[in-house]
Amino acid sequence: MIHSKITKLFGIKYPIVQGGMVWVSGYKLAASVSNAGGLGLIGSGSMYPDVLRTHIQKCKKATDKPFGVNIPMLYPNIEEIIQIIIEEKVPIVFTSAGNPALYTARLKKHNITVVHVVSSVKFALKAQAAGVDAVVAEGFEAGGHNGREESTTFTLIPMVKEQLNIPLIAAGGIATGRGMLAAMVLGADGVQVGSRFAASKESSAHIDFKRRVVETSEGDTILTLKEIAPVRMIKNEFYGEIEAHNASGKSVEELKELLGKRRLKKGMFEGDLKDGMLEIGQVAGLIHSIETARDIVDAIVAEYLEVKKEL
Ligand SMILES: Cc1cc2nc3c(=O)[nH]c(=O)nc-3n(C[C@H](O)[C@H](O)[C@H](O)COP(=O)(O)O)c2cc1C
Repeated sequence: MIHSKITKLFGIKYPIVQGGMVWVSGYKLAASVSNAGGLGLIGSGSMYPDVLRTHIQKCKKATDKPFGVNIPMLYPNIEEIIQIIIEEKVPIVFTSAGNPALYTARLKKHNITVVHVVSSVKFALKAQAAGVDAVVAEGFEAGGHNGREESTTFTLIPMVKEQLNIPLIAAGGIATGRGMLAAMVLGADGVQVGSRFAASKESSAHIDFKRRVVETSEGDTILTLKEIAPVRMIKNEFYGEIEAHNASGKSVEELKELLGKRRLKKGMFEGDLKDGMLEIGQVAGLIHSIETARDIVDAIVAEYLEVKKEL
């Protein structure tokens, strides 16, 4: 047990949250992380509402520990998703990529703990004002959609900490016990880990994507597509096309066309490493094998305690 405001808020053993991830975090991953003492999140961003309902129901069967659902508000069907979450009595919701004022009050009326993901001090304060129970502050080294501010986790966490009164979860670049300890020293009450769990055995990502993550070294990812919505991904052939597009001075509309609708599924779920979009964080350079979610949680906790003692 590691005591913090976050373990108390969620009723969990370790202050480790597995970030909700499109095409990656179904009920298998979420339940495994929750069973290991962290908090698992089902990523609803890549699920039709009826698929989400099935995942929630299966998650309840696979764990008796708390778990949650992540809702990226930039995807469609939000109304239906909120309704399902309320009906299925999901205890915890993490919202991201949108306005926290939209659904927080409604979810809280149903006794749901609400956390919002932000990338700046300004949005952290906005989330607090909207009544959320905690904030995830995510640095731009993180995998997936990202802030335009490009604040790093190392600078963002202490700046948010200075002004925020509610519990704070750090995300972006944290994959080890050392990283977790550093984040806690900077003022976080817990951490959200994405990339390392994306390459776990229980992740629903394609095996070729997981292997690619393990092969990724420092400097292999980039924050791109800033004209549409900034996203960190592996530099592959598709990224080469984005670069060529930008160099040619073509319009944002044409860039949207190039992106299309299925790039993420293609890359991460179907394993098309060339033409698909491969979202992962800078910390991929520290991920050296495909492990179970439990081994990841245990390794992070063991290293955290060991390094803390050493210090
Ligand atoms: C493949 C992938 C998909 C992601 N999808 C989502 C998502 O659907 N919603 C969300 O709020 N964050 C998403 N994220 C961000 C993670 O939840 C988490 O905050 C981030 O990965 C933490 O940084 P790290 O990658 O350095 O561990 C995604 C990240 C990755 C790597």
